[in-house]
Amino acid sequence: MPGKNLKLADDFAADYDASVLQNNWIGPKVIFDLVKPHLNKPSSTLDLGIGTGESASPFALAGHKITGLDGSEKMLEQCRQKKIGDELVLHNLEVVPFPLTSNNFDAVISNGVFHLIHPITPLFSEVQRILKPNGIFAFSYEAFDHIEGSTQVEPGVWEKETETGVLTYTHEKTYIRKLLRDNQFEVIDQSQFLAFVNKKSNTKFYFEAVMARLKPNR
Ligand SMILES: C[S@@+](CC[C@H](N)C(=O)[O-])C[C@H]1O[C@@H](n2cnc3c(N)ncnc32)[C@H](O)[C@@H]1O
Repeated sequence: MPGKNLKLADDFAADYDASVLQNNWIGPKVIFDLVKPHLNKPSSTLDLGIGTGESASPFALAGHKITGLDGSEKMLEQCRQKKIGDELVLHNLEVVPFPLTSNNFDAVISNGVFHLIHPITPLFSEVQRILKPNGIFAFSYEAFDHIEGSTQVEPGVWEKETETGVLTYTHEKTYIRKLLRDNQFEVIDQSQFLAFVNKKSNTKFYFEAVMARLKPNR
């Protein structure tokens, strides 16, 4: 139900940066550190679900050209105000094709987004289409730790509605690995990090970060 999630993203946009600061969101540093050694300057990098630009920011500071897609106009507005991104496009990531030409980017990143999207299968095919050969795809997804109260919507994918009404999706590692294989990606590096803590229930949520490379002979 993307519409509802995107409306909630709009409502959250003005407070997003203060909230991530308070919650010590280290995702942007994790993704940048994974990608940095593999990216020559100046690259053309796409951020899927760019939000207010937190994850794109270190790439922009390092001189990479940034294109950002997001389904929330209010999030993009915050990003624009921070002057992050050379091109920002309003687009629902559950809708394919993305309004981007094929064979176009050196790297695609997506951080803290996959748990909000269903299905993610078409997104992976799109990333394969728009990346250049040997291109990099770095992303995070929620670790498969907290599935109590979730419903399996397809093998390997679990759905849950949070207290705030957001529909979230947890993906099994084997599901993500199959998507990567099916789309000709080879995993180069990975790590796990603490994404946030629900202070009310004292629950820790970990994310998996993956850095993969598109095979040249796809
Ligand atoms: C938790 S924020 C992460 C933002 C940014 N990547 C970061 O690292 O701070 C999730 C972002 O995904 C966007 N998003 C969620 N569902 C989406 C969808 N279906 N299509 C496009 N964007 C979506 C939201 O608008 C929001 O900006």
